[in-house]
Amino acid sequence: MITKEFNEELKARIDIADVISSYVPLKKSGRNLVGLCPFHNERSPSFSVMRENGFFHCFGCGAGGDVITFIQKIENLDYVDAVKLLAQRAGIEVPEDASDSGMGKLKNRIYEANREAARFFHRMLYSPDGKQGLDYLRKRGLTEKTIIHFGLGYSPKDRFALVNHLQSKGFSKNEIVQANLANVSKNGHSYDRFSDRVMFPIIDMRGNVIAFGGRIMSDIKPKYLNTSDTPVFNKSRNLYSLQFAKKKANGQLILVEGYMDVIALHQAGFENAVATLGTALTDDQAKIIKRYSEEVVICYDADEAGQKATQRAIGILRPMGMRVKVLTVPNGKDPDEFMRSYGEQGSSRFRMLLEKSGNDFEYRMSKLRSQFNTEIPEQKVEFLTKAAGLLSELENPVEQDVYISQLSRDLEVDKNAIRQLVEKNSRRHYRQMKKQEQRAAHEKLSGVSDNLNREKRSNLRAASAEEALISMMIYDPDVAIKIAGSVTPDIFVTSTNRRIFEMLKKRVDNGEGVEPDDLSGYFTTDEIEGIVKMLVSHQREKDPYAAAEAYTQILVDQSTRITPEKAAEADNDAIMEELRKKKERKRKPNQENRL
Ligand code: GTP
Ligand code: MN
Repeated sequence: MITKEFNEELKARIDIADVISSYVPLKKSGRNLVGLCPFHNERSPSFSVMRENGFFHCFGCGAGGDVITFIQKIENLDYVDAVKLLAQRAGIEVPEDASDSGMGKLKNRIYEANREAARFFHRMLYSPDGKQGLDYLRKRGLTEKTIIHFGLGYSPKDRFALVNHLQSKGFSKNEIVQANLANVSKNGHSYDRFSDRVMFPIIDMRGNVIAFGGRIMSDIKPKYLNTSDTPVFNKSRNLYSLQFAKKKANGQLILVEGYMDVIALHQAGFENAVATLGTALTDDQAKIIKRYSEEVVICYDADEAGQKATQRAIGILRPMGMRVKVLTVPNGKDPDEFMRSYGEQGSSRFRMLLEKSGNDFEYRMSKLRSQFNTEIPEQKVEFLTKAAGLLSELENPVEQDVYISQLSRDLEVDKNAIRQLVEKNSRRHYRQMKKQEQRAAHEKLSGVSDNLNREKRSNLRAASAEEALISMMIYDPDVAIKIAGSVTPDIFVTSTNRRIFEMLKKRVDNGEGVEPDDLSGYFTTDEIEGIVKMLVSHQREKDPYAAAEAYTQILVDQSTRITPEKAAEADNDAIMEELRKKKERKRKPNQENRL
């Protein structure tokens, strides 16, 4: 557990605006700073950083929290790791017991076991047993420098080699199995997961070894064996070689399919290449990519599966506002084969392909075109109609004009005719977008689509009162004490807000703070997001005491209301008791709930 003292020191040393502006350009706007939200795609800034409160909130997507939540979200880290990162930034030591929780301890042991395993595999590559592994990598054209740079290795044939080694280094069987470095046999023996494979360590942004890929050197299946998901590894949330690529990205990342493609490209000087980990691109990976670049060059295999995957990846990246280009390596080769087949020339030839690679619009247009025979008039019309749909998605009018001219020349069709088709499509496109936006805005305002608090939808009035009370507690410590002393959790109607209130009340009762700054260790990022949203939508009250009393009364009324669900559950006596209580309250308003 991170101590309160440590947290305070950290917050004192760190300015939320400094931290966030190293990720997002911010401009001053009144008392706050605003910028484009890094958590969703937008054109006009609705992301604001409130320096005095120490929290951020996006009015567009609802993301919000304090500086720790921000780091958790943007770096994909858990609470403890986010604190560590910030501490590093501030140049202060995290106290030893900071990661003392059971899970934190296990994770650290897994990182250590993985690091030791990577060292072991690498050493084995240069041992007599590993000779065939080393020969294999050399045969595939890797230099000594590359092998060392990527920390490649070899897992021995002996199925107990790594388990024995790690145990001799003090790792327990459980730790080794939890790291997925070993499997457990039916009779309870653990044996190495990887054997007789060349090994590719997978490293995260902070330099931890989080997993391995292992390639067999023969035709035996599976060709690649990867670490399954573990407490420190999730294959859909990491990218191979991103720790190198992010430093060389300069706005552009190259996305390839395999480990070997990445390595071949790096060796040829394209150090901005990354790969997914044996699965199709996921939303999480796309978000990570977006964090480090504005442009992605997709460079998948030329086979049908590769082209399908390309279409899919475009469909994920493009809506996030990324520029997407597609590079198809000629003759059905993958980037690694391409580099090897051209030897010395590989690098300059690949650079040419890179420069020639069109944007995804051109790629999609040529795909579309290949489906029609434009010599036949009907097919030509059909193609043009579909092409106009694609063209209408281009937002840059100059770009649009360039392609319309090109089509008009190619197909010998009047430019204005094509333009009219495109405009018709644009209007329809625009109307659809508008409608969607309006619906989303309406749902947000009415609280109908509150993801955190699903009960809010059917209890809008009560939930609003609850949120007002919670906000007041956070805004003002004196009001917090009053509310905590007089309001009981059982009058809360929605369980999410009740839980939040209980937590706040407990902290107040213990004499601890409940400012936004104090909350991140106690609530999940989703809950904090919800709380910040409450703060933003409930202004400070002029007379908080009177307001608190009024909101409390709303809750008392609501909580004693007999809902159909309650009536179905309760027996007669309970219902009579409720009714009696209610009458009494009416008679002497606010008596027992007076603040
Ligand atoms: P090489 O044959 O070594 O050049 O591999 P490649 O990178 O060209 O392989 P391929 O295009 O077949 O696969 C791309 C990526 O998919 C690999 O880097 C692996 O991450 C993953 N992959 C390939 N084969 C397997 C498999 O059999 N099992 C699993 N889990 N992943 C695989
Ligand atoms: Mn290959």
